[in-house]
Order: sequence, then C-alpha cells, then structure tokens
Amino acid sequence: MEKIELAIIGGSGFYNPSFLGKAEKHVVFTEYGEVELFKAEVSRKKVYFLPRHKIGHSLSPSQVNYRANLKALKKLGVKRILATSAVGSLNKLMLPGSLVFLDNFIDFTKNRPTTFYDKEGEVYHVDFTEPYCPELRSFLIEAATNLKLDFHPAAVYVCTEGPRFETPAEIKAFQLLGGDVVGMTGVPEVVLARELEICYAGIGLIANMAAGISKRSLTAEEVVEVISKMNSDIESLLKEVIPLISSMRNCHCATALRKAKM
Ligand code: HPA
Repeated sequence: MEKIELAIIGGSGFYNPSFLGKAEKHVVFTEYGEVELFKAEVSRKKVYFLPRHKIGHSLSPSQVNYRANLKALKKLGVKRILATSAVGSLNKLMLPGSLVFLDNFIDFTKNRPTTFYDKEGEVYHVDFTEPYCPELRSFLIEAATNLKLDFHPAAVYVCTEGPRFETPAEIKAFQLLGGDVVGMTGVPEVVLARELEICYAGIGLIANMAAGISKRSLTAEEVVEVISKMNSDIESLLKEVIPLISSMRNCHCATALRKAKM
C-alpha cells in the first residue's frame, strides 16, 4: 500500500498551520532554492503546510519560486497537494465568500518558468486533458457536502501574471473565453505538480467580484480581509477531507510522465 503524504499550499490570507495541531518548522534545500514549510500529523497522515508567499507574505505571484516549492514537496515524498488560492469571480453565480473546486484552467502568465524539463534531451509533453486531480476534487466535494459549505464543484480558473489586478476589458474577454474565476498563482504550480506526478487540487477562495463586475475599485486589503473571514471554513474543509483521502491513488496523476517523453 502506498503511503499518502499530503501537502497543503496556503495562498493569500491563509498562512497559519496551527489548525493542524502541533506544526514544526522545516527547511528543505533544492537545486532551485530553499523552501520553508511546516510539518504536522493529522489522522495518522503526515501533512506539510507551505505558505506560498512565505511567512509574512513577502513574495508577489511572479516572485514565488514555484519550482523550488514543488521540488521540496517531491523530496519530502508528497503524493497529493491541496492548494488554496484567492480568486476574483467572473461568474455572477459564484459569489465572494464561497469556495470553488477548480477543474480546468486558462494560462495568461508570461514571465515564469513553467516546466522542470528545460534542458536539451529532456523533451516531455505532459497531458492536461484533466488538469486537476479528479479524485482529490471528488474528496473535496464529499467533504464540503458533509459540512454544508457554500461551494461550486467545478470552475475554470484564469491565471494572470499580475501583480496588478485586471482591467474590465480583460475580465470581459476572460468571460467570453469561458473563465469562471481569476487569480495570479495557480499556474505553473498545477503544471509542475503534474510533471512530478503529484496529484493536485485547486481550491479557489472567492474574495471579490472581478474588475468591472464590481463597480468599486479592488484592493489587496479587501482580498486578505475576505479570505481571513473564510479561514474557519477552509480549515474545517481541510480537516474533514484529510481522513477521506484513501491511501491508494486511482487517478492518472501518478503515471503522468509515462507517455509524455518524446
Ligand atoms: N484578480 C486576480 N487575482 C485575485 C483577485 C482578482 O480579482 N482576487 C483575488 N485574487
């Protein structure tokens, strides 16, 4: 039986691992840089908590060292990642304060290393027909249903480079393309996880209606404030989902590289 080591990546406004009980600080060294995270044990499963923007939120979305973070988790033996990200909503049915479980993405980033395979002789084309782990998403749906949380079981995530918020014209364009929510950090994280054959679920935390839908201007302060109010829901969701996660993986994430090499 495969032992499932889990990691939670905490996005904007969700920084504190204390809901996992005793959490020890841990530093992991990788060829891409050093990563600080926390280690805890929940339901006899080892769980790591990695604050994406670092403790104190010192890294902007483009400065996050995604490759170091993912390599560190791989080095620790992590097989499954539950990642939270603050998002703005493009969809009038998806309102601030609710959760969305991502099932697809559109990538508008432009300034980030998006692969581990960037050396000559290492050509991989990884399949993204199912971008997020369907099994982890179904555990999240089960947990959120048990807790009667306000959630949407599927959503298309648009990732922008940031750090600025979007223009109303961009938001209109993203709506036409089929986006539901917009954020700045979900890509390349989800891509790098798949390249390392780690299951990855994206949990979007809706902080605001996106630019132009909301007639008010957007502030970073408002985003963190709304997410802080959602912290108890997120913590309950994560505590509920951890015991539901079975120790065997029945998805294709674990063998993502098998047919990807040229
Ligand atoms: N746009 C991009 N990222 C975000 C937003 C938004 O409106 N809200 C929270 N993160």
